[in-house]
Amino acid sequence: MARAPAPNPPSTDKAKAYGDVAAEIAAVLEGECNSIARMVTVVALLVATFDSYFWTGFYLVDPDRPNELVVGPYQGTLGCLRIAFGRGVCGVAAQSGKTQIVADVHAFPGHIACDSRSNSEIVVPVFGPDGALIGVLDVDSTAYGAFDAVDAAGLEAILAQVFAAPQPREFSTG
Ligand code: SME
Repeated sequence: MARAPAPNPPSTDKAKAYGDVAAEIAAVLEGECNSIARMVTVVALLVATFDSYFWTGFYLVDPDRPNELVVGPYQGTLGCLRIAFGRGVCGVAAQSGKTQIVADVHAFPGHIACDSRSNSEIVVPVFGPDGALIGVLDVDSTAYGAFDAVDAAGLEAILAQVFAAPQPREFSTG
């Protein structure tokens, strides 16, 4: 079966697109302290910006089971509900605290296939103002090799801006 070509726009265009959507997210979220509202807004604006985003969403650290992720706000087909630290791409990103870029998910040991149409993936850890892990942002594409260092830098900057910066009033993950 022929591999689907990666719909990668030139890096400069993609970097600019991340900068533009970061500014839009900041404008929309100004003064908003509710974490669910912040998460769904990030997902919606990223999906509206990037055609290659097939599944986009958060997995959050479960406060009752701190070595487990539970699905949070997302857009896309049905997502798996829970992922243990160290399992799948999301669990490895949570455990290592490092962004994972996977060009071919079928070659990633222990990859969790919530939807068989997913072929590549990027998972970025999300940290709070106190530096603690809140969860991960997971993005899947049906194309192989859809994500690179530009995506990592763009998403890391957006997540730091939205979740790591001091939050307006109280911030809760509940
Ligand atoms: N593929 C992920 C699981 C979540 S779905 O992509 C929505 C993983 O391996 O962790």
